[in-house]
Amino acid sequence: MPEGDDRHPFLEGLSRHRGAPSTIMVIFGASGDLTDRKLIPALFNLALDNLLPGEFHLIGYGRKEIPDEEFRQMAGESIRNFSRRPMDEKPWGDVKRNLSYHAGAYDDPESFKSLAEKISEIEKASGRELQLVFYISTPPTVFEPIIENLGASGLANHLVKGKPGAKVIIEKPFGRDLDSARKLNAVLGRNFDEKQVYRIDHYLGKETVQNLLVARFANAIFEPIWNREYVESVQITVAESVGVGSRGGYYDHSGALRDMIQNHTMQLLSLIAMEPPVSLDPESIRDEKVKVLKAIQPLVLDRLEEADVIRARYTEGLMEGKKVPGYLQEKDIPADSTTETYAALRLLINNWRWKGVPFYMRSGKRLARRVSEIAIQFKRPPGILFSEGRKFDVAHNTLVIQVQPDEGMTLLTNSKVPGLQTRTQPVKMHFRYSATFGSNTPEAYERLILDAIVGDSTLFIRGDETESSWRLVTPILESWDSLGNHGMARYAAGSWGPLEAERLLWSNGHQWRQTGI
Ligand code: BG6
Repeated sequence: MPEGDDRHPFLEGLSRHRGAPSTIMVIFGASGDLTDRKLIPALFNLALDNLLPGEFHLIGYGRKEIPDEEFRQMAGESIRNFSRRPMDEKPWGDVKRNLSYHAGAYDDPESFKSLAEKISEIEKASGRELQLVFYISTPPTVFEPIIENLGASGLANHLVKGKPGAKVIIEKPFGRDLDSARKLNAVLGRNFDEKQVYRIDHYLGKETVQNLLVARFANAIFEPIWNREYVESVQITVAESVGVGSRGGYYDHSGALRDMIQNHTMQLLSLIAMEPPVSLDPESIRDEKVKVLKAIQPLVLDRLEEADVIRARYTEGLMEGKKVPGYLQEKDIPADSTTETYAALRLLINNWRWKGVPFYMRSGKRLARRVSEIAIQFKRPPGILFSEGRKFDVAHNTLVIQVQPDEGMTLLTNSKVPGLQTRTQPVKMHFRYSATFGSNTPEAYERLILDAIVGDSTLFIRGDETESSWRLVTPILESWDSLGNHGMARYAAGSWGPLEAERLLWSNGHQWRQTGI
């Protein structure tokens, strides 16, 4: 690393990405929130680390008429407002020079024809064929017309040196149930080969999530005990303190199960539970993840008091001492809404490794704190020594993987309390990313955009993977649809969720962990 270079040490391992092919990236939904907050800042940080292709063109595509210069200014503002590192005009200048805007409708073949013309002009001026990366970051209602138009305009079949030279990155939500996900996969399949498709789940780009595979398979100590012989239960918590804010219109059609559980928490579950892949190539890893999803036992849904799922909605409460409204009082939420802002599930994975081990998952908005963690709770030691007669004296050993914030890993073990008596107390061994590696970790979108440009699909979701996960979640949605608000629990904003969520764990003698310890 040259002196004064503040590149993150992790990036050393990414040097292979320097071979990124010359690319034209088109962002659909260029004036949207995701482009503003995440995509442009991610591109800037890649430019800062010199990881973008030597020749890189960016075309923003959107319905609004925006002059090129204004779009360049908007991009500069995004960086100033949202980048993890401050604006540096020099590396950004190289990107800015090749940045333009194309106004067009998403369902209008003519707009795509003129996009194709623009692309071919860029190629002509460059004197070579360039890879095309289409990033669909629009509302889901226009995913299909965009994909069809990419096919019809010939852009999906763009060739570079006679080989497929177009890729499509597609944002969530990937469908709203099994049928719509299948339909979207079919539309993609008609216009692109699966190898060209990159379905985003930004949790997979998070450093700690990528570390799950390293923690499990680069350490010999965990794998022998990572099974039903030693593991008592697994808890996955993805808690948010934010409410729905200005996204009420979107959220009320989605809810916690679709917005977080079907994708983000299911991804965490499959990485935690999968078998070791035969290699690190994308297909081997994704094959193992799909097997986990397929092995999940169908859920009990019909008897509310025994169901494997519970849902709830936040009511008015206190967040950091300030009063905040309940979900039904938020902007754009109808008074008769049946949408849940919290969901918790109890799952069993019916395979050799996990048979009988409950996996608990919960996610919600307006919970006490923003925290995502995975806790592997191990069985207690037999109670013949330290816990005899005092059953709960010796705590479970627990391995906690903190996904965010305060990324790291903690192992809870039991220790003797100093003194003349023999008493035990749980103690913690901590590893913190920030303490070991510094705090300037790349954002998920940096890694994902770069991987798509380079052609590494490991951290993207395969078509059959989304369908497996929807297959599990769709019956829950159908059952909730038929119940309306019947069975919808409540929790005060700022709390840890509804009391009813405890019921899922009681029958096995478990309880939700207090997160962050
Ligand atoms: C998105 C959801 O996928 O993930 C949002 O649509 C949620 O509702 C967000 O807030 C959480 O992401 P992160 O990275 O902040 O945990």
